[in-house]
Amino acid sequence: MSHYQYQGENLLCEDLEIESITNEIETPFYCYSLRSLRDNINKYKENLKNTNSKICFALKANSNLEIVKIIAEEGLGADVVSIGELQKALRAGISAKNIVFSGVGKTESEIEFAIKNNCFQINAESISEIKKINEISGNLNIKQNIGIRINPDVRPDTHSKITTGSIENKFGVPIKDVKELFIQSNLFENINFKGLAFHIGSQIMKLEPFEEACKITNQLIKEVESNGFTIKTVDVGGGIGIDENEKFQFKKYFNLINSYFAKKDRTIIFEPGRTIIGNTSILVSKILYIKETEDKIFVVIDAGMNDFMRPALYGATHEILPILQCDTKKNKVIEFVGPICETSDKFLTLDSFQKINEGDFIAISNTGAYGSSMSSNYNIRPNIAEILVNKNKFLAIRKRQNLEELISE
Ligand code: LLP
Repeated sequence: MSHYQYQGENLLCEDLEIESITNEIETPFYCYSLRSLRDNINKYKENLKNTNSKICFALKANSNLEIVKIIAEEGLGADVVSIGELQKALRAGISAKNIVFSGVGKTESEIEFAIKNNCFQINAESISEIKKINEISGNLNIKQNIGIRINPDVRPDTHSKITTGSIENKFGVPIKDVKELFIQSNLFENINFKGLAFHIGSQIMKLEPFEEACKITNQLIKEVESNGFTIKTVDVGGGIGIDENEKFQFKKYFNLINSYFAKKDRTIIFEPGRTIIGNTSILVSKILYIKETEDKIFVVIDAGMNDFMRPALYGATHEILPILQCDTKKNKVIEFVGPICETSDKFLTLDSFQKINEGDFIAISNTGAYGSSMSSNYNIRPNIAEILVNKNKFLAIRKRQNLEELISE
């Protein structure tokens, strides 16, 4: 979390003390660092400057309009999975020629909207979907580019709920059917078979599963091309993880992808989500109550699993940082929990923590990806505010949802 650092006792986002934000914005709220976002984007741009590529940010990781606008300004494209995400990307200023439409269950109206808006590529995930795209393209008299998302059957070492590239997962077309599909592609006269796509899962820290997927895809490309077809796009998905301790080998990753797929007249599509936005944000929350039992201390904070569900849903670990640091330590098991009526509404359990009091503020780290985008109104709790820090100033980029609006539905 490079742009979140302590200066003395104070946790800073860039040059701004988080405590000063809590005086103006009601907790809980998401706080983003603009500099972190730009750094992450630049890392991709820098590594890909000599590669014929498109960097399509996966909007599912974060779809705040202001965030997506910054991503658009930086010239990135988008990977979208619904008409809502597609419209949001367009509204933010991302050109349709840089938008890839993914997803296993697109509806007719979503496909129609994507085709009418000249979406760069629709990644199809089944033979039935390809037939549907062909039919709709024919009615609209627009020849649509498609990619076929393959299921390479690899098993990355990540949470089972976020693996997507093994054969027991619903995603993609099995390898053995892809060759046949290309051979029959002349039956689908309203679409261009542009390329292949894979996305094997998320929060992957090792290079090996990507390498395996590349090998399998490369072999498939050779076989398909030996039948007279040309693979113009290879979409390598997203999936790289972020971790406090472990570092992903970025350089090696890009070299790997290049070595397998870079070719004149071929575009490599990247769909990063977490590595663009994950470490740019913290979730700031207030300690409501401290409840000490014989075995442990429960720290009840005002953020709940509805605001940030990764720990409850995947058992994900997100470090907790005090907004004001102190030297006094308390050695007893401490559990940070939310106010929701669910036992899984807990964020982190530690063996010790610094001395804290009711009314203090803490920050949950690395919440930028799949934080606000996966939040819900469970327990009739309004969506929380989001703010963006630029140097020593902040800007509200989403207001806390109005409670009246919520109770009138
Ligand atoms: N492309 C496709 C086709 C995807 O399905 C995904 C994520 C991405 C790109 C972006 O992946 P990333 O670079 O962010 O790993 N809610 C879960 C993650 C689900 C990811 C779903 N697909 C979490 O909080 O860990």
